[in-house]
Amino acid sequence: MRHSTFGILMTAPDIKTPLPGPKAKALIDRDARAVSPSYTRPYPLAMARGEGAVVEDLDGNRFLDCAAGIAVSSTGHSHPDVVKAIVEQAGKFLHMSGTDFYYEPQVRLAEEMAALVPIDGPVRSFFGNSGAEAVEAAIKLARYQSGRQAIIAFLGAFHGRTMGALSATASKAIQRKGFAPLLPGFYHAPYAECYRCPLKLQPESCQAECLSFVEDQILVHLVSPDEVAAILVEPIQGEGGYLVPPRQFLERLREIATRDGMLLIADEVQSGMGRTGKMFASEHFGLKADIVTVAKGIASGLPLGITSARTDIMTWVPGSHASTFGGNPVSSAAALATIKLLKEQLTANAAAVGDHLLAGLRELQQKHPLIGDVRGKGLMIGVELVKDRQTKARAIEERDAVVQAMFRRGVLVLGAGKNALRFSPPLVLSKAQADVVLKLLEEALGEVEKARS
Ligand SMILES: Cc1ncc(COP(=O)(O)O)c(C=O)c1O
Repeated sequence: MRHSTFGILMTAPDIKTPLPGPKAKALIDRDARAVSPSYTRPYPLAMARGEGAVVEDLDGNRFLDCAAGIAVSSTGHSHPDVVKAIVEQAGKFLHMSGTDFYYEPQVRLAEEMAALVPIDGPVRSFFGNSGAEAVEAAIKLARYQSGRQAIIAFLGAFHGRTMGALSATASKAIQRKGFAPLLPGFYHAPYAECYRCPLKLQPESCQAECLSFVEDQILVHLVSPDEVAAILVEPIQGEGGYLVPPRQFLERLREIATRDGMLLIADEVQSGMGRTGKMFASEHFGLKADIVTVAKGIASGLPLGITSARTDIMTWVPGSHASTFGGNPVSSAAALATIKLLKEQLTANAAAVGDHLLAGLRELQQKHPLIGDVRGKGLMIGVELVKDRQTKARAIEERDAVVQAMFRRGVLVLGAGKNALRFSPPLVLSKAQADVVLKLLEEALGEVEKARS
């Protein structure tokens, strides 16, 4: 099927060879000998090029992309405005280290962030190269500024793989296994997983009682409130399963942090930059954090991580924290072009196409017993698969089978959490493309349901 939204002309899906095709297979064989075996590859996709929400592999097979390179390619693959900004900046200079010198793209990006991030009052920004570095800087800043050590984070959270960020990460045990000792002083509380609320409360009427674990357990039995530097939270939990908390969960966290003099860090690495139909997921909940971390979608695929904080918090002195490559001029130029596109049309498109996709997924839920829960905002959508709607037993193998069945049909999706499918397409996805995804998901669900009956 041919799509022309946003001038995109590549057609997808279009699968011409068995998967992987011969060229993809040859590359994957070379990769197996030379590249780190620590990467997780859910299926054999070897990319040749991309346009918008369409990806072409080395053998000419075309896929509709609902993964966006793990929620990164916000403006679609190789958006011409972003490519132009990159080429223009690359022709001027590639690097000069914003740590030691000054250049316009980094300053302008800091000004843009100050205007955009959901933090009250004046804001300054620190630049790194990835989500983990943005979180690392946030943790360091919180400790530096408060003179306190402890960090409260959440079970299921993913904040990155460097030692500090990994200490806050509590997503999959394999990510921590073998790397001890991690940093001391990190405490984890349950996130608001409303579909599986252990207290059997309803998100519409609960008072975020799950946070009594923080107030009545962690802060009573484990660490004194005046030793806690910060609470680190994803406003929508990403890797943990695309969990959308009730508004009162984030409101109450804000109250606890303010009451006890802790900083609140909103990790918007996955949920930020237009993905949820607002520039930041925090905006859906009226959340104002003290520090916000951003990466992934900010530069449409070039490496960039940003830690923005209230000016009165970002008080660290020259030499206390820096990065050679952070805020690279080419990445900064890509980010400025990305932000312009997000403001002009793509955040609104994420909201509209996200609503359309959510509605279609909820219709599929009526017909397919495998679907236990459909949740999300904008184009950050999780579909949790269960073996049985009563027991909510996690359909882990079935989820993996649906991911494979979608790949065979030419749609790229990833899992999230133990048993959810995640839809995190480029924000240029059109309604027509979303309809194709829904049709093929219906087929894939049917195939997996049939195989297990
Ligand atoms: C919420 C969140 N924070 C931090 C990270 C780490 O980002 P990176 O892989 O760029 O280090 C991720 C990556 O998935 C994330 O989802």
